[in-house]
Amino acid sequence: MMKSVLLAPSLLSANYLDVQSSIASLRGRHDWLHVDVMDGCFVPNITFGPGFVSALRKRYPSEVLDVHLMIEHPDRLLESFLDAGSDYLTVHIEADPHIHRTLSRIRERGAKAGVSINPGTSEELLRPLLPMVDLVLVMSVNPGFGGQSFIPSALDKTKSLCRWREAGHYSYLVEMDGGIGGGNAAEIALGGCDVLVMGSAVFGAQDPALVLQEIKLKVKEAIAHA
Ligand code: DX5
Ligand code: ZN
Repeated sequence: MMKSVLLAPSLLSANYLDVQSSIASLRGRHDWLHVDVMDGCFVPNITFGPGFVSALRKRYPSEVLDVHLMIEHPDRLLESFLDAGSDYLTVHIEADPHIHRTLSRIRERGAKAGVSINPGTSEELLRPLLPMVDLVLVMSVNPGFGGQSFIPSALDKTKSLCRWREAGHYSYLVEMDGGIGGGNAAEIALGGCDVLVMGSAVFGAQDPALVLQEIKLKVKEAIAHA
């Protein structure tokens, strides 16, 4: 079967005064909704809390909510984000000294557990965690803001992650986040990514649905010709 790639627009770049219109502008061409949670401590910016995730869950019961926690000690707020209805809940390895316990707890609560690494963190650190995660999120920018440039070394990490997945018979998805758009989406998909997060490239466009459609097509063609 031909590999397919999921597109996850990031609400970090949505219209905060009218998020529902931003979501409507996707016209269902997206796969997941990516929610960037920032605490002003782990990253130099502040965004959404569990209340926002809960409001999304109520308004969009069938959307896949891909919640990316960029917060120190995510264990402190874990239950709130799980109660809010996160489908995928991803924590940073750099932010949690007891990440093994945190990831176990996410799965115990019936959500999908994700682990993320910053551009300056080696993927080797993930190895003990690979049997217990549903998603590995490779940051291709230093987290905190949308609209930054893609850091190419992130692609080496996805290649290792795909190799280890095959060798270990694991089932996690590989997601990449930061600096992705029409110019590089196909190359990133060919590098082994299963999920592409895109903020400014989608919500900064005149027609976000068209951008998603074009990217899907480019990725499909690239995979077919690979
Ligand atoms: C950055 C966030 C990203 C962000 C990506 O810290 O984790 O999800 O929305 O934005 P773009 O696609 O604009 O780089
Ligand atoms: Zn993100």
